[in-house]
Amino acid sequence: MTPYIEENKDRFLSELKELLSIPSVSTAPEHKQDVLNCASWLQSHFESIGMENVEILPTEGHPSVYADWLHAGDDKPTVLVYGHYDVQPVDPIELWTNDPFEPTVRDGKIFARGATDDKGQVFLHVKSLETMLKSDGSLPVNVKVLIEGEEEVGSEHLVPLLERHKEKLACDTILISDTAMYSPEVPSLCIGLRGLAYMEVEVTGPNRDLHSGSFGGGIENPANVLCGIIARLKDEYGRVTVPGFYDDVEDASEREKQDIASLPFDEEKYCEANGVGASRGEFGYSVLERLWTRPTLDVNGMWSGFTGVGAKTVLPSKATAKISMRLVPNQNTHDIAKKFEDYIVSIAPKTVKVKVTDLHGGNPALTEPDSAGIQAASVAMEEAYGKRPVLTREGGSIPIVLDFQNILSAPVVLMGFGLQSENLHSPDEHFHLENFYKGIFASTRFFHQMAAQG
Ligand code: BES
Ligand code: MN
Ligand code: MN
Repeated sequence: MTPYIEENKDRFLSELKELLSIPSVSTAPEHKQDVLNCASWLQSHFESIGMENVEILPTEGHPSVYADWLHAGDDKPTVLVYGHYDVQPVDPIELWTNDPFEPTVRDGKIFARGATDDKGQVFLHVKSLETMLKSDGSLPVNVKVLIEGEEEVGSEHLVPLLERHKEKLACDTILISDTAMYSPEVPSLCIGLRGLAYMEVEVTGPNRDLHSGSFGGGIENPANVLCGIIARLKDEYGRVTVPGFYDDVEDASEREKQDIASLPFDEEKYCEANGVGASRGEFGYSVLERLWTRPTLDVNGMWSGFTGVGAKTVLPSKATAKISMRLVPNQNTHDIAKKFEDYIVSIAPKTVKVKVTDLHGGNPALTEPDSAGIQAASVAMEEAYGKRPVLTREGGSIPIVLDFQNILSAPVVLMGFGLQSENLHSPDEHFHLENFYKGIFASTRFFHQMAAQG
């Protein structure tokens, strides 16, 4: 750590708490103003640390925040830092130990919604920029920052924003901290993300809820039908049965399979940590291969009929499920959404009406493992953690990564400081403060390393 980071540790933490106390839940209409407030908070913060051209860029949805500092000279590269200030909803709120928007430190971790995903990881770069600007009066490379407000809902309006501001956002490397390290002992850089197609299926039967005695056996039950449909989406080998689903899947290379197999992975501990007796997924692949290199399909939620305490005899009129498919490189989110819809419609019985809606999604992405940015990040991680990082992939999605590569034609570096155990999207989300501070230091080292590479 640098003296500046050391001396300002406590202030950095209290500022992070301020940022975490803003409930910027992007999916919830009632939090629209909080999302805007969060953007303004970041705007004033960027101004206060000496970043320039700070601006809120409006979109048709939630805005992005932009800032830059471009005085390193034309011979130095330009790095675009991307992250998101929006967060996931907090429910089930009763399972939180503290209020999700009253950040609380326990055991060296800060607990709040957004702590690790992604406010804590965004803020460590902000504090890294501050550290360099205040202690050196300059940055070693040209830096642009783009923090968006719609990542957790699919980044739909960010694509037109990238097209609109292509010149403004032009850069040599894109740096993103929105992933996890392999483990606390194994620092890593992520070189691949899965994509996502998130669908809603609504099955409608009778025109109103009916008495299940008077009508059961006479009229189709949409909840039964929905269960039948879901049961037909995967076969007994854990493969998705949607026709054409695997058409475009790009297999991992033998080299990468070997790299994955060489990572320390204890399947028994993995099951124990997650409270299950055995892992489950596509036959013929290891757990890490399944999570990182194979697509899958999961029900995220479903409801129908009576779900209160006790019993009510009812034949429901409607049944609904939210179903996601995680995609791997070369699959396309819109193509898969269409194949899913066609299949559902083709297997639904004539006794019900079925409606399939594409809620949101994002394309999978692979990054260049040999880019200058990866090399700089590798050195930076080693300086911060004392070990060369391993290369991993992740099962989660950051929808804009592929668009960055296509629209800005720059390689992406995924240098994450989170941990899988930090309950992202769950109650008691937290971020290890050790990684917050090491992340600030690693970030400063990354920028210096980029400058050294020229
Ligand atoms: N930071 C995550 C992505 C992530 C999660 C990367 C776990 C690596 C490991 C991101 O904020 C996220 O949650 N993305 C959503 C995508 C979406 C809602 C379109 C996801 O993966 O569900
Ligand atoms: Mn995230
Ligand atoms: Mn997330």
